[in-house]
Parts: sequence; structure tokens; C-alpha cells
Amino acid sequence: MLMQPPDPVAAPSAPGKHSSFDFVAHAPVLDALAGAGCVLGLGCGRGDWSLALARRGTPVLAVDRWVEGLAWLRAQAHGLPLLAVRADLTAPLPLADGSIDGVLLALVLHHLAGAGRAASVLAQIARALRPGGVLAIVEFLPVPPPPGPPLAVRLSPADVLALAAGAGLAGGPPVPVADHVGLYVQRKSA
Ligand SMILES: C[S@@+](CC[C@H](N)C(=O)[O-])C[C@H]1O[C@@H](n2cnc3c(N)ncnc32)[C@H](O)[C@@H]1O
Repeated sequence: MLMQPPDPVAAPSAPGKHSSFDFVAHAPVLDALAGAGCVLGLGCGRGDWSLALARRGTPVLAVDRWVEGLAWLRAQAHGLPLLAVRADLTAPLPLADGSIDGVLLALVLHHLAGAGRAASVLAQIARALRPGGVLAIVEFLPVPPPPGPPLAVRLSPADVLALAAGAGLAGGPPVPVADHVGLYVQRKSA
């Protein structure tokens, strides 16, 4: 049987990992960052949120350490104001103080907390945000699965708000955006 040569223009298939974009309500998350000048998508995974923001005309710097996810994202992002960069979020962000308008941290904070790095990463985010800038945190609520990760790794709203406050960010309690998932919109004081 003849083998088909690889199609040079075909995009890679979507990486198999789940994206919160598949089950989280889009409008509350995207609207929280609407109008922001430049958004950081930290722990972007395969980048569905970053693509949605870029398609709205918002410049996005998408960051993750997952090589295949970033490759998929770059293949989708032609012509969009989106840069996908491989980096470890626990390293200092090489961004000037106050240079970013918005940040999206979707289902990433519990990973950082598990590594004992949540407070230091949020401090970096707060430093890079401009006064009045927004951090949108999408996180599992402390409800027994399924769906989602084990209860033991989930953060309570009190934990999330205390971490944000510790970094100098303030905002309201979580708004439900899916089963067991909340959106926390936090701002740096103007
Ligand atoms: C559950 S996935 C969420 C992906 C995407 N934000 C979403 O909502 O679908 C968590 C992502 O965080 C990334 N991540 C976790 N810790 C990281 C770190 N220290 N540096 C870079 N990326 C990290 C993982 O590679 C993964 O893509």
C-alpha cells in the first residue's frame, strides 16, 4: 500500500489534553478581559482561550511549558496578534513592572499551589500588571469530583482570595462558570 506523503500545510491535530475552553462558559471569562490592551495567557495549554482573545483583537502573550500544546497553538495563530512562548511559570516573568493589562490563569493555580509556588507566581503577575489591571482566575471549586481533579488538590475560595490579596490583588468571590468551576476576577489597585 502506498503511504500518503505528509501534507505540508495541514495543521497538527489538536493535542488530546482537555481544555477548560471545552466546558467553561466563554462569555464571563472573555468579558472579564475585554478591552484589556495586552493579555498574558499563563499556563495556556493548547491555547483555546488565547486564540479566542486574539480573535477579538486582544494582543496575547501565551505561555506554557507544554511543547505540543504550543506547537498546536502557533499553527492556529497565523495572522492573529498572538505570541506563544515556552517558559516555566515559576521563573521570574521577564516583563517590565506595570506593562500588562490583563492575565488569564485558567486551571493553573492549583498546579502552582501543589508545587508551593502559587504565592510567588501571583506576586510576579501583580508586579507585571498595570494599576487597575485584571487577573482572571478560573479554578475548580472544592466539590468532590467527578468532574475534575481530586478534592485534595482543589483550592477553596478563601484560599484563592487570600493568595490574591497577598499579592495585592482584590476582587469578589467566584462566579460559577461550569460544574465545579469558578471565575475569580481580581484587580490591582489603580
Ligand atoms: C489543566 S491545564 C490548563 C490549560 C489551559 N489553561 C486550559 O484552561 O485549558 C494546566 C496547564 O498549566 C501548565 N503548567 C502548569 N505548571 C506550569 C509551569 N510551572 N510552567 C509552565 N506551565 C505550567 C501545564 O503545562 C498545562 O498546560
